Amino acid sequence: PAYNDSKAAIATLTALDVPYMVLQPLELQTVAQWENDPRGLVPLQATLQVAIPELEGATGPMVFGGSRGSEGGGAVALPERVERLADRLAKLVALRQSARADRKVAIVTFAFPPNAGNAGTAAYLAVFESLFRLLQRLKIEGYQVDVPESSDALREMLLGGNAAQYGTIGNVHAAIPVDDHVRRERYLVDIERVWGPAPGAQLTDGRHLLVIGRQFGNVFIGVQPGFGIEGDPMRLLYNRELAATHAFSAFYRWIREDFAAHAVLHFGTHGALEFMPGKQVGLDGRCWPDRMITDLPNIYLYASNNPAEGALAKRRSGATLVSYLTPPIAHAGLYRGLLDLKATLERWRSLEQDADGATRDALVELIQAQAAAVDLVPAAPLWNGDAPDRISALVDRVLELEYTLIPNGLHVVGEPMTGPQRTETLAAMFLDELAGHGTPAEVVRTILTSGASAVDPALGTTAATIIRLDGLLAADGELEGLVRALDGRYIVPAPGGDLLRTPEVLPTGRNVHGFDPGRLPSVAAMAAAKRQVELLLERHDADGHGLPKTIGLVLWGTDNLKNEGQPIAQALALLGAEPRTDALGRIVGAKLVPLAELRRPRIDVVLTVSGVFRDLLPLQLRLLAEAALLAAQADEPAEMNYIRSHALAVAEEQEIPLATAALRVFSNDDGAYGANLGLLVENGAWETEEQLADTFVRRKGFAYGVEGKALAAPALLRSLLKRTELSYQNLESVELGVTDLDQYFELLGGMTRTMKQERGTSVPVYIGDQTRGTGSVRTLEEQVALETRTRLLNPKWYEGLLQYGHEGVRQVEQSVTNALGLSATTGKVPEWVYQRIGETFVLDEAMRERLAALNPQAATRMAQRLLEANDRGYWSPDDATLDALRAASDALEDRLEGVA
Ligand code: BEZ
Ligand code: MG
Repeated sequence: PAYNDSKAAIATLTALDVPYMVLQPLELQTVAQWENDPRGLVPLQATLQVAIPELEGATGPMVFGGSRGSEGGGAVALPERVERLADRLAKLVALRQSARADRKVAIVTFAFPPNAGNAGTAAYLAVFESLFRLLQRLKIEGYQVDVPESSDALREMLLGGNAAQYGTIGNVHAAIPVDDHVRRERYLVDIERVWGPAPGAQLTDGRHLLVIGRQFGNVFIGVQPGFGIEGDPMRLLYNRELAATHAFSAFYRWIREDFAAHAVLHFGTHGALEFMPGKQVGLDGRCWPDRMITDLPNIYLYASNNPAEGALAKRRSGATLVSYLTPPIAHAGLYRGLLDLKATLERWRSLEQDADGATRDALVELIQAQAAAVDLVPAAPLWNGDAPDRISALVDRVLELEYTLIPNGLHVVGEPMTGPQRTETLAAMFLDELAGHGTPAEVVRTILTSGASAVDPALGTTAATIIRLDGLLAADGELEGLVRALDGRYIVPAPGGDLLRTPEVLPTGRNVHGFDPGRLPSVAAMAAAKRQVELLLERHDADGHGLPKTIGLVLWGTDNLKNEGQPIAQALALLGAEPRTDALGRIVGAKLVPLAELRRPRIDVVLTVSGVFRDLLPLQLRLLAEAALLAAQADEPAEMNYIRSHALAVAEEQEIPLATAALRVFSNDDGAYGANLGLLVENGAWETEEQLADTFVRRKGFAYGVEGKALAAPALLRSLLKRTELSYQNLESVELGVTDLDQYFELLGGMTRTMKQERGTSVPVYIGDQTRGTGSVRTLEEQVALETRTRLLNPKWYEGLLQYGHEGVRQVEQSVTNALGLSATTGKVPEWVYQRIGETFVLDEAMRERLAALNPQAATRMAQRLLEANDRGYWSPDDATLDALRAASDALEDRLEGVA
């Protein structure tokens, strides 16, 4: 694996066409060290023998032996692991040998958090349409499968059925008697320690554990139980030790032993299994993901833009990924009041040349009124002498809104983009190359209809690429990939990333991998990061805050894998550090850039690092810790080195060594992920914002130093955040806006709210938008406003989602919940956001009826969320609006009870 000739390896493996499992004998740690190391394999071996083989399509890493070191015994096998390995191989062989007509497949969908209205959701995916197409295809391929008559019928069979009778979120397919569970549950003692005596509280009628799902011939489609903590505020606030729940374990046991699946297919990004407690990589039999998946061949339909969480699924649950494409990309365009405004702005501009001052002046008032009607400017006081400047700024803002890229709709597996979708997407992908050659979409259309010779010869290579990519976008490789994977064959690897910047994700239907972690951050990323950091500092200064001494920065794994480590590079640039490499160009540590070269003080950084980053980029975790330590130890004047001055001060305050006071990399404890704020907000399971900050610190207050080990350091985190003057995160993908994902308010928000708690005042929050390559910095308020206008309130965006009915409504509702999460943690959501959302989706009767018919639970939650925004003081609508909202919410609830 370490020869690094991926091409040759892939050619060989393709010819062999068997799954490629790379297994590890412990080489850099003894058996006892591995057993006691919450990380599992040490980073160097994990990089060389897990991450690099993944570039060649390897899956299912497993430690099988090692040395007992001074305890003696030389090289030994690890019987428990070897048994598991043998079982896995036997199941793979059985899968390959089974006839398709006899093959049993369990498809697992997700409901996260496990509330009605959430079932069958996955990132970017129209789950039921996709499932329907897969069932049809499996039937053609010779599987014994009873295909329902439509995707709607499929959804009804899965989520309806006897669900109302049981009060569950979907059809109860099997009821496992508690006695049976107690007799068969291998991990009963461990589960009962956390969840109490069987059957516990989840998915049970008191006498049985319930398996949600439905069987369609030899294909079972189930709904994965949640972690079990979602609705339990006390566990969300305080949990440390976790285990799978009774219901979770019973679900997978039922699939393995009762249904007797040959393979399990996890359907869409992502579920809970691979995030359960245990080692990061090189798991053992005590790790919950390993206990749950055991020996089942695990195939995972996974978003092509998420190599980081995808890698976790491979490493922690032995998954083979089969990628699916993200939705088409389109320009946001303008709508309603924005269109009116644009027309008036154009008239104003056309009059500019005429020296007809009077007519033009008459338009100023209209422009201000129209802009105020869409919340772009205040309605009063009226503009006077500075109107031309204000109008020209407005023109820029409207242009930005019109040309902002948005994801358009959901993806359906097996359904390639339509011609117009491909044209818009390709135009967005090649915006820079096509600049100056006419409207990008027009140029793409010409290339695709009349060939490369029909456009400027200077576009030759671009045109050829566009034609090739159009061919890839027009074909489906995803169903094919799933069929191959279910035959137990080799799945060719593919880089993960955003279609916009990484066309190599095409064709999808392949096994997603990340970037060689030994090379992050790249030289190009370091150069780009320096510019980004300057932009951030300039913006902060321009906003009247001067040069910050400390910045809080959030780092995710995905972003770094997709952008060659640019966010990491930004942290280094702020500190005035850079990677140290060996003779082969591999990163081995950090070094400081001399102050004379830096020409500004070293800025202190407090890093909130996702659990995913911690697992996937252990070398970078240490690189960042080393950079901070070196800076803190540098013999430099205090006014030129804020990290040193802070570390010295904190060391004295807390009576801790300088090396401890210099810790700057914070994440979850080993084996844990996330800050839980997403679940708290989703369930409304919080009272005060202070609780959100406390939960953040409890979950993310673990410092990682140069040894790469977790140290519980909540007091240190708090004292650093007290000194932090702004918080910041990069946005890497059009598909991942701050209102699209709860993870932004979990980490960026959680950190920001803690800063407020410690400082007593709120701080500015910035977003570095890297989605278009060159990068720009916005305040979080600006980003939320931009996304609200280009997405939530934009018919192009919501109609794109609502065409997928049930799941579309859920996605819209999710964005509203995320806005509330951002309000709760940062206070940076303008009130008009809630007002306009309310008008568009709840107070408009036709729209409300439509949403309620498609997904009554999600529609009701949306109305309740707006009322919650008012209750919590994030929005004060007038009495009429509030009354109307209450009435609408009551009507939706009544309807829901009628339905249930
Ligand atoms: C990560 O890649 O680090 C990440 C992805 C999604 C949510 C949070 C973190
Ligand atoms: Mg996630």
